Amino acid sequence: MKKIAVLTSGGDAPGMNAAVRAVVRKAIFEGLEVAGVFNGYQGLIEGKIELLQLGSVGDIIHRGGTMLRTARSPEFHTLEGREEALEQLKKNDIEGLVVIGGDGSFRGAYELAKLGFPCVCVPATIDNDINGTEFTIGFDTALNTVIDAIDKIRDTATSHERTFIIEVMGRDAGDLALWSGLAAGAETILIPEEKYEVPAIIDRLRSGTGRGKKHSIIIVAEGVMTAAELAVILKKVAGIETRVSVLGHIQRGGSPSARDRVIASQYGARAVEVLKEGKGSVAIGMRKHRVIDYSLEDVFEKNDEWEADLYKLSKELSI
Ligand code: F6P
Repeated sequence: MKKIAVLTSGGDAPGMNAAVRAVVRKAIFEGLEVAGVFNGYQGLIEGKIELLQLGSVGDIIHRGGTMLRTARSPEFHTLEGREEALEQLKKNDIEGLVVIGGDGSFRGAYELAKLGFPCVCVPATIDNDINGTEFTIGFDTALNTVIDAIDKIRDTATSHERTFIIEVMGRDAGDLALWSGLAAGAETILIPEEKYEVPAIIDRLRSGTGRGKKHSIIIVAEGVMTAAELAVILKKVAGIETRVSVLGHIQRGGSPSARDRVIASQYGARAVEVLKEGKGSVAIGMRKHRVIDYSLEDVFEKNDEWEADLYKLSKELSI
């Protein structure tokens, strides 16, 4: 293998730049040429490909977002789009592709790999929802952003003796809501993985009030419902007045945490090694503090268990 390429795709995540840097530097260290594909799969179809040098990835390890830009590409979902992408890869003498992104990006790479092109995926999404890996790049930074926001909201919730409902991203996964809720001591956490009962939420709020608690924080994962919807339900069913805060895209920005920079560097470098070893259709991830690689098929064929223990603990600690 002489030349590889790297792209970032889907929702950006803090630490993507650190992963791009690792891919580029490790590839050059290993004597490979490395090209950057701009604007994700859409850019690949359009041939937005440039050779990168050591200096191309200087001064980015600490920056949020992605220097390669990103996109969601409906065209790549079609066979014609993927064949066009393959044409571009061949035209540029690229023999392997590193895809840095989330679930949709992995799916795209899996389809490309099925057409015979070696692809290695590096998990980067604030949602932490890729099967087979305990941590995705960006999750830790987003988590700290959410915790910081909850802490601030708690100040005003306490001062005004109010109940706040905070809506957290995560698509269909509750990791960001669960981890941030546990870390910030939220009284109630609603995640898609666990059924919720409105009367139980109300009982929890009332039992808090009963023992003198004047404020309360409810974290709701966007995969359950919106904070505004929950506010309407609480008002209608129990006359409970709340304030709503939707954290939104702020969760995707910011300088990556130390942890995200480290795992991005590890994952990116391992991706290059895997391509050099002649493997395709591979995902990089982490299990029990070790960087692993496993089949892309497993990402879609197997389901990780969700962290029920963490949820149970959050309930025990917020009685
Ligand atoms: O996958 C990352 C994510 O931020 C999700 O948490 C969220 O549901 C989605 O992307 C939002 O996507 P967009 O920025 O395209 O609206």
